[in-house]
Amino acid sequence: MPPRVSEILQTAQNELQAASPTPRVDAEVLVMHVCRLDRGGLITHGHRGLTDDQQFRLEKLLARRRQGEPIAYLTGVREFWSLEFNVSRATLIPRPETELLVEKTLASVPRDAAWTIADLGTGCGAIALALAKERPRCRIIATDISPAALEVARSNAVKHGLTNVEFREGNWFEPLAGTKLDMIASNPPYVRANDPHLEQGDVRFEPGQSLAAGPEGLDAIRDIALSARDHMNSAAGLLFEHGWDQAALVARLLHSLGYRNIVCYPDLDGRDRITACRL
Ligand SMILES: C[S@@+](CC[C@H](N)C(=O)[O-])C[C@H]1O[C@@H](n2cnc3c(N)ncnc32)[C@H](O)[C@@H]1O
Repeated sequence: MPPRVSEILQTAQNELQAASPTPRVDAEVLVMHVCRLDRGGLITHGHRGLTDDQQFRLEKLLARRRQGEPIAYLTGVREFWSLEFNVSRATLIPRPETELLVEKTLASVPRDAAWTIADLGTGCGAIALALAKERPRCRIIATDISPAALEVARSNAVKHGLTNVEFREGNWFEPLAGTKLDMIASNPPYVRANDPHLEQGDVRFEPGQSLAAGPEGLDAIRDIALSARDHMNSAAGLLFEHGWDQAALVARLLHSLGYRNIVCYPDLDGRDRITACRL
């Protein structure tokens, strides 16, 4: 008799023990993924076995997880802003803390506004599509330098039926020539190039150009801030996500470039992760 789901879960958990800090959850997610079950189904189907194909696919995924590959790349999806996003090795895996950037951007956009808002470095489209969903009258322009990431972002717009988003390829504002914006939000690369974390854990599998940004991690933020004012309407806002220890550097940079109303917002752990400013 083939092993039952409950036994397979236990075996998978044991196999992931050394590789993952969350072996039980990972085992459950991977079994649900190959069997196309939700959590309720996982419980009610606990007595059933897996087909040969399911077992084969599960073994391949477990082997990849044992190598450290993030769960989101194995299942191809990650939730952000209560929406399920397709992700691939071409995109960063959206982080929960980036929801704070969406929240603070939305706080400045009236519900019925019909503004033009840019998400620079959109990756899988998480920020742009969350904004598009919450402000359906706004036009969101999402840019990225990676054509492969933009493909994933486009698939997510289709998946969620969001039509008020455009995707444009290029270096920061290059694809926005001649476009004036009412709001700009960006979660750009901001990790220091020599940060040892780039060689550890999940980020080893994420695209380098999503993460590293020069010796201080500020190259991308500086590039964006230098050009943003040429694209901002007079009352426009500019918001960045950045590292927990970069708030003072970002504020100083924005101040030196003439931006006003510079405000940092802490995340739930009290760390300043978002900085907003105006012209
Ligand atoms: C930290 S990731 C953020 C992805 C997504 N916005 C999120 O929050 O999940 C940064 C993104 O910026 C893009 N990027 C890097 N350099 C860029 C550049 N010079 N111009 C435009 N996009 C760039 C990367 O391809 C990546 O998708």
